[in-house]
Amino acid sequence: MTYSERAAGRARSAEPLILGIESSCDETAAAVIRGRKLLSSVILSSAAEQAKYGGVVPEIASRAHTEAIGEAVGRAVSEAGVSPRDLDAVAVTYGAGLLGALLVGLSFAKAYAFALGIPLIGVNHIRGHMAAAYLTDPTLEPPFITLLASGGHTAVIYTKSYTEFEIMGSTRDDAAGEAFDKAARVLSLPYPGGPNIERLAREGSACIPFPKMFSGSGYDFSYSGLKTAVINYCHTKEQRGEAFCAADVAASFQSAACGVLAERAVRAAKEKGVYTIVAGGGVIANGYLRTLLTEECSRAGIRAVLPEKKYCTDNAAMIAAEGLVQYLAGNFSDFSLNAAAHIPLGKKGKQ
Ligand code: KG4
Ligand code: ZN
Repeated sequence: MTYSERAAGRARSAEPLILGIESSCDETAAAVIRGRKLLSSVILSSAAEQAKYGGVVPEIASRAHTEAIGEAVGRAVSEAGVSPRDLDAVAVTYGAGLLGALLVGLSFAKAYAFALGIPLIGVNHIRGHMAAAYLTDPTLEPPFITLLASGGHTAVIYTKSYTEFEIMGSTRDDAAGEAFDKAARVLSLPYPGGPNIERLAREGSACIPFPKMFSGSGYDFSYSGLKTAVINYCHTKEQRGEAFCAADVAASFQSAACGVLAERAVRAAKEKGVYTIVAGGGVIANGYLRTLLTEECSRAGIRAVLPEKKYCTDNAAMIAAEGLVQYLAGNFSDFSLNAAAHIPLGKKGKQ
């Protein structure tokens, strides 16, 4: 019998104590939940170190995880006020992400689960972003529409049940977060781009008519046209020796990039006849988008469940939350679980 089969055969608690571990990019994170109650969340970031290089350097990220993982897990367990022996399972991101970075968290999680003799649960990072809202609203139950907007993914998903999804639309080129990061680079803003665009946009107005993304009845996104429009606008001004207001560029870009996210999510909810929208991913930390989503949902009589900003960007609470979904479904992993750089979100349609 394999480790995962033995784990599936064990008596399962309805409110398990789960340790979540996340190390897919530049955040070394650990968190403990009991059922849907978050007991602790520790995030140790190497972003300041990465900023010196204008982006994430994979080897620096892996080394930073190696240094920080023990402290992150130790603090998460002690701040939760529990003993490692009380834990029911260890949930860990196995992909998608930087391979070396993932391997640090995954290997640590395997050793921890093995030492305690408890189940290991491999978590898809994106499913983690989608599950963060279960901690924000412990009464939340599918069906609902999930708006996912991170550095690598942008999608509108019909979440039918805890484990069944229908991708209604996704990006055909750049992800929303990627577009924020590229627009930031054009404006010479430091890494990470998203929060810096948001900060600068507060000083400007959305007065530049960047092209709207293709509209119509579909749910797909395309950010490359908007990115090119920002590049062309800035370069043309520079070539003509004309000054331009970077804050206006940031505000106009942000307005175009976020408007389409809110529009697609609200339309999807109406089409499916579900009146809850759940959001996840780093871009959902954007204050302008949060206000827009909240306002548009309230106008349409839709409940918006937006995780607190620190649970939109990478964290381990969301990994523990998805770990809980998998625990209750009896899906456990073996110690042969490997890291995966890419895990496709899935094809459009039912999953
Ligand atoms: O979900 P996340 O932390 O990592 C991935 O799984 O990709 O998302 C990171 C992305 C980056 O592109 C970052 O620029 C963007 O989320 N982001 C933001 C904000 N905070 C993070 N974009 C816009 N506004 C923000 N405040
Ligand atoms: Zn992420």
